[in-house]
Amino acid sequence: MDLIKEDETYVLNLYKRLPLVVKEAKGLWLTDEKGDRYLDFYGGIAVQTLGHNHPAVLQKMQRQMEAFMHLSNYFVASSTVSLAKLLVSHSFAKKVFFANSGTEANEAMLKLALKYGLRKSKEKKNLIALEKGFHGRTFGAMHLTGTKGYRAPFGEDLPFITHIPMNDVDALREAVDENTCGIVFEVIQGEGGLVEMEEAFALEVERLSKKFQALILVDEVQTGLYRTGTFFAHERFSLKPHAMTLAKGLGGGLPLGALLLSEEVEEVLQKGDHGSTFGGNPVACAGGVGMLETLLAPSFQEGLEGSMKRFEEGIRGLKKTYPHILTEVRGRGYMVGLVTEYAEEIKDRAFQKKLLLNVTGKNVVRLLPALTLGKHEMDVFFRILRDILQELTEERRRG
Ligand SMILES: Cc1ncc(COP(=O)(O)O)c(C=O)c1O
Repeated sequence: MDLIKEDETYVLNLYKRLPLVVKEAKGLWLTDEKGDRYLDFYGGIAVQTLGHNHPAVLQKMQRQMEAFMHLSNYFVASSTVSLAKLLVSHSFAKKVFFANSGTEANEAMLKLALKYGLRKSKEKKNLIALEKGFHGRTFGAMHLTGTKGYRAPFGEDLPFITHIPMNDVDALREAVDENTCGIVFEVIQGEGGLVEMEEAFALEVERLSKKFQALILVDEVQTGLYRTGTFFAHERFSLKPHAMTLAKGLGGGLPLGALLLSEEVEEVLQKGDHGSTFGGNPVACAGGVGMLETLLAPSFQEGLEGSMKRFEEGIRGLKKTYPHILTEVRGRGYMVGLVTEYAEEIKDRAFQKKLLLNVTGKNVVRLLPALTLGKHEMDVFFRILRDILQELTEERRRG
């Protein structure tokens, strides 16, 4: 039996897998069993920030693995402390709690918000989240998630979470009051079709948070770590989060999530309030240190700015040439969504041409390349995508 069949037989199949068995991954390239190379624009769904097997990440992980892999959270580990220190020194945060994933980091954020509110009053336990927002699949994070379809099979909605549409300032004003303990959002909705928060909405979040002492809780699981051009996507706004979650690329490819806490809330969760056996695993944190040290180097940043600009110009050019196919371009940096009714068709044709593209929300081709995307890879990507758009245009013309 081949591996794809065995996977279907033995693994609970909850994902739409690609018909591809990868033997090796390096940078932005995947090599299959036959030796064919594929250009990877999944980026591990925003995990491979520096591409696959980046030497800086690999070296740190290998060294840590040889020292020890896991001791438990009853011990300090230098890589875990180093990663927390890097995050604190480059953000608003005073403290970091480590989890294993985005959804777990959001569970911790949810508990933080509820404890914060309930300490003030027994009524202050309402949370505002956004329609189409995505925060994960565990129970609490699933209820923060704005797409009803993800929650519906598992019973009734939690009564203290209200979802409002992104960028609807009136709905926000209506929803937030003195019983609100927190407002949870992504700055660009990753799973929800790359819809971006507008400044007017962010300003209103800031104003209402101050007025009602509601926490600003930002989920940067997908947008964080320079994916949109700045260290964190919320930096474009004046608002300062009380807490923020990170995951995806944070562990350099290994599972790791984090909750970053500002000074105002660093005392809310106390010993015994929360925990995780694996959270802050030393090997994952070592990978994270290697990744962040590389990302934060000024030379890397300069290169990134130039390449993101080139990418944006290329995408804008395609949108101009093929407006009948690409109806809208969303997102920024290396988190870009091409809105098109041909999303699945483009994905399938790209696969035939050995370019791996992901689709979200049915009609959005989501581009999440590694931040190390080079000129050659960018040229290959644009050549293949242009060929597909041209093919579709000609087929449309022929009817
Ligand atoms: C914004 C956001 N939050 C949370 C999550 C959940 O993260 P994880 O899959 O690591 O649990 C995701 C995953 O895609 C995400 O995009």
